[in-house]
Amino acid sequence: MADATPLDDLKQLEGQALTQLQQCADEAALRAWNTQYFGDKGVMKTAMSNLAKIPKDQKPAYGAELNRIKAAITAAYEAALADAKEKALQVSLTTNPLDVTLPGRAPARGRLHPATQILRQIYSIFADLGFQVYRTREVETDELNFEFLNMPAHHPARDMWDTFFTTTPGVVLRTHTSPGQIHVMREAAGKPVRVILPGMCYRNEAISTRSEIQFYQVEGLVVGEGVTMADLKGTITAFARRMFGPERQVRIRSSYFPFTEPSIEVDIDWPKDDPNRDRLTKGTGWLEILGAGMVHPNVLRAGGYDPEKVTGFAFGMGPQRMLMLKHAIDDIRLFWQNDLRFLKQF
Ligand code: DAH
Repeated sequence: MADATPLDDLKQLEGQALTQLQQCADEAALRAWNTQYFGDKGVMKTAMSNLAKIPKDQKPAYGAELNRIKAAITAAYEAALADAKEKALQVSLTTNPLDVTLPGRAPARGRLHPATQILRQIYSIFADLGFQVYRTREVETDELNFEFLNMPAHHPARDMWDTFFTTTPGVVLRTHTSPGQIHVMREAAGKPVRVILPGMCYRNEAISTRSEIQFYQVEGLVVGEGVTMADLKGTITAFARRMFGPERQVRIRSSYFPFTEPSIEVDIDWPKDDPNRDRLTKGTGWLEILGAGMVHPNVLRAGGYDPEKVTGFAFGMGPQRMLMLKHAIDDIRLFWQNDLRFLKQF
């Protein structure tokens, strides 16, 4: 076998370099390989210095081959290095998915439910008018829900409220916040009263775009010496102006409730330039916001007050209704469906 030529040596060097490169497991090994071949005392330097010992006629071929090998293994090295970096990244992403350099995920910010928002607006308006907020229970006795409100058993006016009865005889889900009037009067025990009573009410209704089985009411009660219908009108008018805007007109119609005498219903006019006016007011231009009246003597008595000495007015309003009217919401079921597309608009 003929002696290996310098070119054969170069070929062998290339093969060995590429084999070793392939065996490098990671970036550190690759960098060590690079030092071994291209460092100051590296294999390529030695091969270069060998050029001096090569017979003159073979020098050009040797030099050209050396350059080709240098370029080839450099390219292979760079590809392997990029590959190793990519692999290391993938490994770090899968074994430790926490990337502290990514911007954090913003926590989902909650907001108040629109029904809560309108309730709070109502509280703040009545707070300015000197009313306290008083809460009473949602499960009531028949006595409080009806009887003390001047509706004895079998009174036909009970039909105005489709009632949920519980399995306990004489216990119902309150159909309105009015029984709170009795609670407040009994607790105030003869002292003047000026409160609102917000809370959930329940009615055994067929659920539709207009009626729900549960909804909020805000009751109001003022009792004291010399309280008159003029006070009721003034209070309601002030409220309507604050809630719906300063230009509002308030219309008072006579009505009937067993627990007030006289009884009224209150409408406000809807802005003439509002495109939803006809739809919201069913073409009348007026919109009912509450029922009210002068507290019936029997109710005052049930609360422990002497109707010869004091008088009072009361009202009951539907805050969700006001919200529907303010925003032209045409389906009352949206309130408790918990659909974020609806809730996020408020
Ligand atoms: N409780 C009545 C209802 O649910 C509303 C109401 C009317 C409340 C007149 C009152 C009132 O306090 O005076 O329909």
